[in-house]
Amino acid sequence: YGSMAGLVKRNPAFSELNAEDIRYFEGILGEKNVIQDDERLMTANTDWMRKYKGSSKLMLLPKSTEEVSQILKYCNSRCLAVVPQGGNTGLVGGSVPVFDEVIINLSSMNNIISFDKVSGILVCEAGCILENLIAFLDNEGFIMPLDLGAKGSCQIGGNISTNAGGLRLLRYGSLHGTVLGLEAVLANGNVLDILGTLRKDNTGYDLKHLFIGSEGSLGIVTKVSILTPPKLSSVNVAFLACKDYDSCQFQRLISGILDGSLSLLVYVSVVLSGILLSSFRFRIRLIILRLLQDAKRKLGEILSAFEFLDSQAMDLVLHHLEGVRNPLPPSRHNFYLLIETTGSDESNDKQKLEAFLLRSLENGLISDGVLAQDINQASSFWRIREGIPEALLKAGAVYKYDLSIPVEKMYNLVEEMQDRLGNVAKTVAYGHLGDGNLHLNVSSPQYDDKILAQIEPFVYEWTSKYRGSISAEHGLGLMKANEILYSKSVETVQLMASIKKLLDPREILNPYKVLPQSLISAC
Ligand code: FAD
Ligand code: MLT
Ligand code: ZN
Repeated sequence: YGSMAGLVKRNPAFSELNAEDIRYFEGILGEKNVIQDDERLMTANTDWMRKYKGSSKLMLLPKSTEEVSQILKYCNSRCLAVVPQGGNTGLVGGSVPVFDEVIINLSSMNNIISFDKVSGILVCEAGCILENLIAFLDNEGFIMPLDLGAKGSCQIGGNISTNAGGLRLLRYGSLHGTVLGLEAVLANGNVLDILGTLRKDNTGYDLKHLFIGSEGSLGIVTKVSILTPPKLSSVNVAFLACKDYDSCQFQRLISGILDGSLSLLVYVSVVLSGILLSSFRFRIRLIILRLLQDAKRKLGEILSAFEFLDSQAMDLVLHHLEGVRNPLPPSRHNFYLLIETTGSDESNDKQKLEAFLLRSLENGLISDGVLAQDINQASSFWRIREGIPEALLKAGAVYKYDLSIPVEKMYNLVEEMQDRLGNVAKTVAYGHLGDGNLHLNVSSPQYDDKILAQIEPFVYEWTSKYRGSISAEHGLGLMKANEILYSKSVETVQLMASIKKLLDPREILNPYKVLPQSLISAC
């Protein structure tokens, strides 16, 4: 499976499931919500990338907070480890068991509780699928403040537990800002009701933040209250290619020099190619930075997404996803950008974006671009960007890194990785450029420890050197629990472990994830 799961040992302090446990769960949930059949367990034990695989013998489907509370109270008293699960679209091995943990899946808790049209505050259960919430709000004239490629399966409780960022964070901010309150069940079964619907509430510590991004390690989120923005009438999407050093020209130059018989010329060509390559790299970085700065300044209040993908990502999508085509005429571009604006003045907003594009073309910042003419074309542009994780999955094994890095340094890492890996594996880069969030992926037909050794710890050390984050939006899960010190100090991690100990003294909630096992002493 290519994951690190083999390196973790089952904590012997955890109990093993027995027939009496099953009877207890059937008693509170009803037989049909106590899942033991192999096929359903196989799906629930395997993550979206098919990289992490547990061996749980039991999945529970609670229908209410009270049921979650009873389950946890019992598991805590029996020292049965559990893994909370939403849509199981997580990308760091956090949503599946490592060993035989009981899976508590929230999908049956999917009711919308209330929606206030004046304030835009939505209160719902944690198992609501993001896309269903988007559709519900659309009818009411509102939108969710977050959107991501996994919307068809991921749940709002999973989004909150991972503090998912997604495609519109640039505009609406992180869930730490938009989540107003939540309800969570603690390891001992106590229900913590902090489901506030107030914009302002400074009475003491704001405990909801502990659950936003803690990946099911501190409690199970059962209800949420979230501030949703109104749906604005004018959305424009542009798909752009960035000015590139024409690679054909570059190759012609090199082969022209190599055609000469003098070895001196060969030498000169090698030196020259180095200079050209580094000046190209420098230039492209300046271009991207200028574009981002210009977009923020000139499109400021209407800018709602600034996403990028490189040519390797584009090639993958075109090759693996049916019906996807490059909206730009065939030409070798190195970088593509998807820029979206959202506003309320159709003609003004469009004019602004067109003027921005024209200026960028004139300045040579972009070499080509197309503005979506209708909603179908806009969706087809988004399909390219949102389809990259799926295309990577189809291409075979994928090593995924989700990094926050200062934008001016971001692509240096990609190039260094390309240089390290040579032809052994493909380096594919994309991400939320407007948020300084790079998704660096290494794709190869199969998992291979030699490739992994080329990537890690290099990628973490590099990120740490520039004071970046090794986990920008996907969480740490199992994949990066032992790497946390690359981005956080020892004191910080120790405090996190103390908080974990306080809220979950027997450490039954999502064990082996988030924090290094060495800090966790068991039941
Ligand atoms: P799961 O995968 O089921 O669980 C994720 C973590 O949360 C696990 O640790 C789990 O134990 C915990 N958890 C789940 N539900 C609860 C709960 N109710 N209470 C407590 N803990 C819980 N992520 C981004 O940030 N931005 C993106 O743009 C993005 N795009 C994606 C695109 C694709 C195609 C895919 C497959 C994934 C993408 N992701 C993205 C990652 C993933 O979708 C998010 O992390 C998402 O928020 C996970 O939600 P989920 O319901 O699937 O949670
Ligand atoms: C994305 O932005 O597409 C997601 O975070 C998923 C990924 O990184 O592959
Ligand atoms: Zn992302």
